[in-house]
Amino acid sequence: MRGSTTAEVHGPRWGARAEARAELYAHMSMPVWELVARTVRAGSAVLDIGCGSGEFCRLAAARGAAVSGLDAAEAMVAIARRVVPGDFRVGAMESLPWEDETFDLVTGFNAFHMAADFGVALAEARRVTRVGGTVVLSNWTEVHRNDVLVLGKAVRPLQPPEWAPRPSPPVGEPGVLESLAVEAGLTVDSTGEIDVPWEAPDRRTLVRALLTAGSYYLAIEHSGEAAVAETLAEASEPFRRPDGSYRFENSYRYVVTTRR
Ligand SMILES: C[S@@+](CC[C@H](N)C(=O)[O-])C[C@H]1O[C@@H](n2cnc3c(N)ncnc32)[C@H](O)[C@@H]1O
Repeated sequence: MRGSTTAEVHGPRWGARAEARAELYAHMSMPVWELVARTVRAGSAVLDIGCGSGEFCRLAAARGAAVSGLDAAEAMVAIARRVVPGDFRVGAMESLPWEDETFDLVTGFNAFHMAADFGVALAEARRVTRVGGTVVLSNWTEVHRNDVLVLGKAVRPLQPPEWAPRPSPPVGEPGVLESLAVEAGLTVDSTGEIDVPWEAPDRRTLVRALLTAGSYYLAIEHSGEAAVAETLAEASEPFRRPDGSYRFENSYRYVVTTRR
């Protein structure tokens, strides 16, 4: 991995339970992946930044694109390589290992906000996009509109004392993603919101799935898996249905931009 970036911090956290995340949790983003994948042209070159276990790349490849993906987590990239033929690299989004103007479409789904500097990561995305090509950014909407984000608050007391939420632009607020895109020299073509509900069939699956989120890694290290699991299950009670399954309502905002 080139350079010292948040990738070195996030890689191990998101990679620790990569297989379970791919199996149980990652598909929450499927609605936005499918929406964007519908725009992919056969023969185009596509890069997904923070590609996780490669699900979006798989959809893009099915439409005939040549796909590339980058993620800080080695274990995530290993899964992506297994599920779809493509150029998958372990690396840092602040310093992309591709030449200028390589791709027709560059995407980042809940990814750019993890960079130490959102603007630097977006500038890199722009750099590797061909003139006339597209950059798509997508992140959670406002915190209060996302049930799974409620759980993060419950886990806070289990985080190590020195833990603090990382400073990041308030990307969930209306207009913020658009402003960041414009600052990075991109032209905003369209924006939208999409529901990304997530369900778990039972408590055991719920806990296994939630523990895979990199944001709980430090809490697990500090307070132990059992304590974090218990807290997550308790905080999920409002979302439990009479049959014992759980449903969380969530939404993403997405911004489609062009590199002029
Ligand atoms: C919230 S996950 C989203 C994964 C995937 N895009 C999705 O929609 O499910 C964020 C991903 O960004 C990766 N990541 C975090 N910081 C990174 C960085 N600085 N460079 C590259 N990848 C990073 C993590 O390893 C993780 O896989």
